[in-house]
Amino acid sequence: MLKRTKYCGHVSEEDIGKELVLCGWVHRVRNHGGVVFIDLRDREGIVQVVVEEKSQPKTYQVADSLKSEYVVALKGTVRKRPPGTENPKLKTGNYEVVAQEIQILNASDQIPFPVDEETPISEELKLRYRYLDLRRESMKENILFRHRAYQVIRSVFLKHGFLEIETPFLTKSTPEGARDFLVPSRLHPGKFYALPQSPQLFKQILMVAGFDRYFQIVRCLRDEDLRADRQPEFTQIDFEMSFVDEEDIMSFSEELISTLFSELLGVELKRPFDRLSYAQAMEMYGTDKPDRRFGLELVDLTDIFKNSEFKVFADAIKTGGMVKAINFKNSNLSRKEIDELAQFVQSVGAKGLAWIKVEKDKLTSPILKFLSQEEKTSLLERLHPEEGDTIFFSADKKDTVYKVLGNLRLHMAKKYNLIKGNAFDVLWVVDFPLMEWDEEEGRFVSLHHPFTSPKEEHIPLLQQALGTQNLDEKKKLLEHVKARAYDLVINGYEVGGGSIRIHKKEVQDLVFKLLGISQVEAEEKFGFLLKALRYGAPPHGGLAFGLDRLIAIMRGLDSIRDVIAFPKTQKGICPLTGAPDYVSPKQLKEVHIKVFE
Ligand code: AMO
Ligand code: AMP
Repeated sequence: MLKRTKYCGHVSEEDIGKELVLCGWVHRVRNHGGVVFIDLRDREGIVQVVVEEKSQPKTYQVADSLKSEYVVALKGTVRKRPPGTENPKLKTGNYEVVAQEIQILNASDQIPFPVDEETPISEELKLRYRYLDLRRESMKENILFRHRAYQVIRSVFLKHGFLEIETPFLTKSTPEGARDFLVPSRLHPGKFYALPQSPQLFKQILMVAGFDRYFQIVRCLRDEDLRADRQPEFTQIDFEMSFVDEEDIMSFSEELISTLFSELLGVELKRPFDRLSYAQAMEMYGTDKPDRRFGLELVDLTDIFKNSEFKVFADAIKTGGMVKAINFKNSNLSRKEIDELAQFVQSVGAKGLAWIKVEKDKLTSPILKFLSQEEKTSLLERLHPEEGDTIFFSADKKDTVYKVLGNLRLHMAKKYNLIKGNAFDVLWVVDFPLMEWDEEEGRFVSLHHPFTSPKEEHIPLLQQALGTQNLDEKKKLLEHVKARAYDLVINGYEVGGGSIRIHKKEVQDLVFKLLGISQVEAEEKFGFLLKALRYGAPPHGGLAFGLDRLIAIMRGLDSIRDVIAFPKTQKGICPLTGAPDYVSPKQLKEVHIKVFE
């Protein structure tokens, strides 16, 4: 076999007149009668190969027999393409390789879809033939980009003295809030390992062990419903530090993220990153992961409509809810468009969508007749609408208003193409409540995880909350207890989250009690961590970035599937391997499992 001396994509000026051996796949082959042109492709790019019948009759015959995706090795001499035949779209477009010898290393069956960017291919087909899909330029670039990201990430961690340490995959449940994937134990009938939802507990234990700074680029497994930005297995850039506070973690994170953007995209992010409190984010954007690239902030009008004649607004407020509005500036919406938006909000739980259109010298709206002059004046003063604007209202319980208007913003941004350019909106969300009331479970749950530290000054409130039996009072008190937690949000996606952890047993006990986690349960679930914390745990904290999301955002992609070499479909299936699949009765028996249909 001929041995490669250069990648196709690297052929350049310095190779002119030289003999090279290239190996790769036949991207395209065209016979122009007496001359065959082959676009030869490898992971670095494509180069044009020319085979002339007159000078190389035997090689010409081989070239003429080639088909798409055949694998070949060839020897040839590089020359400049004749003037006018250059291809500016190719990196190697000024050169071509005149082949003297071609060896067919392997043939290829007829491919199910062409290796190009133009042909639309279904997700299922793409993933079934992922090895062909990955040959496409854009997919290949995504994977190479990800590879480069790993190197930059490691370099930043190493620069700051972090140690790379692996944590187990066969372990016990980690409380990240999703369902566990379980692995039955053959040696211990009826017992199961849980695959880690994150290395959370182990990284804390590494701090107790004294490693001081840990990082890992690590797979996490969560059995949750999938979306475009969620996979059952995904990768975290996970780290933990000792003897630090939130400022240290955030500042290191900013260096890591800025270096990635700078080295891989040439984009310099403004530092320090913006910060919004959880309360501000919810009030202005209806979500704790705001996308601030297109305005449309929520404006509170509750005080204006407290005593309104318009029952929809007044009733919502009387029952403890609120009225908020969005002014869609210069939108010039038609009635049909407004109706479509009203239909959309119903799909996310709204009872209706009141609106006012601002036209030349007048307002149009079905609700105007219910509003007093004073209400209209206050409304206009607060929103400053201009001709062409449309104001949308949501009146409901707080959570519903946030959900409705938060989703409406995103829907309008997408539908009306409001995001211009490719700027990145990067911000921290901080001051999260430590816990919130979960209606379904009928108990308080952690917003992050139960090891997240409350702010020192709020610990007395936790003690007070524990002291009261009155649920409303408890809720009120806990509303004010903030966590030492922080999320990083880019373009409306949560790309990372972390916290300073509880390292004192008394505080941990207090938090468990309020979360309704009994001593027995705590002991059973994470007794090993609690025990470790009693043997000289340093103050510590950390964070984990979702690597897949980060890479997808950096590459401007909607789905994290496009940055994972072998992802699952929306239904959690791998069409390439057919996983998940049935196993033999023998295998089941070995792990002591009986399947009930
Ligand atoms: P958290 O659960 O917030 O924190 O996860 C950290 C980040 O991981 C990403 N992520 C996901 N990406 C793809 N698919 C998923 N199913 C998925 N789930 C989460 C998100 C998220 O911000 N142990 C803590 C971190 C810490 O406190 O240090 C943790 O796992 O981008
Ligand atoms: P109705 O009097 O119920 O017909 O409602 C009058 C207007 O208010 C209609 O445009 C409804 O879409 C709208 N509307 C109804 N419920 C709500 C709500 N909870 N929030 C905002 N607008 C609403």
